[in-house]
Amino acid sequence: MSCANDDLKALIRTIPDFPKPGIQFRDVTTLLLDATGFAAAIDRLAESLPVKPDLVAGIEARGFVVGAALAQRLGTGLLLVRKHGKLPGETIAEEYALEYGTDRLAIHVDACAPGADILIADDLIATGGTALATVRLLRRTGARVTGAAFLVDLPDLGGADRLRAEELRVHSLMA
Ligand code: PRP
Ligand code: HPA
Repeated sequence: MSCANDDLKALIRTIPDFPKPGIQFRDVTTLLLDATGFAAAIDRLAESLPVKPDLVAGIEARGFVVGAALAQRLGTGLLLVRKHGKLPGETIAEEYALEYGTDRLAIHVDACAPGADILIADDLIATGGTALATVRLLRRTGARVTGAAFLVDLPDLGGADRLRAEELRVHSLMA
């Protein structure tokens, strides 16, 4: 599909002062609304992967959108990394820091086989706190978390570098 990365970038809307004054919020909902742009973004991410993972792990909530589309494109299953308290079966959870307080992400204990090669997917990486909690969670099951895919990287916030320090390959379409 012909759609340059700059064209994709133009589909991301910036909302000033959300969720609070001084924050320039990169809003991917406008990219998702564009059929050509959404398909091109998923194609581009899929084509940047050196190997097909065993599973894609999408992080609630916007990571479900990117993760589900990527899993379909790659022909893999989708593992849901949910906010704690939402999954019905036996779970394990990991806490991560928010600006004020903490939150927890959870997966089913039997969601992936030990040794499975997992690719994390989300819409955006900022500080990396969410993605790193996901890495810790998945690794507790014995899975190998080897890569992470994002539509947007906010490099000044250092999250992608933190993932690389954990030996992950980081794929992002735009910074
Ligand atoms: C956003 C985004 C990532 C995370 C990035 O999710 O979708 O998951 O923040 O920030 P970080 O790299 O600093 O952790 P949010 O927590 O707003 O949840 P949502 O997808 O449910 O809106
Ligand atoms: N956009 C979307 N999600 C985010 C952002 C942003 O700019 N920063 C942290 N999470």
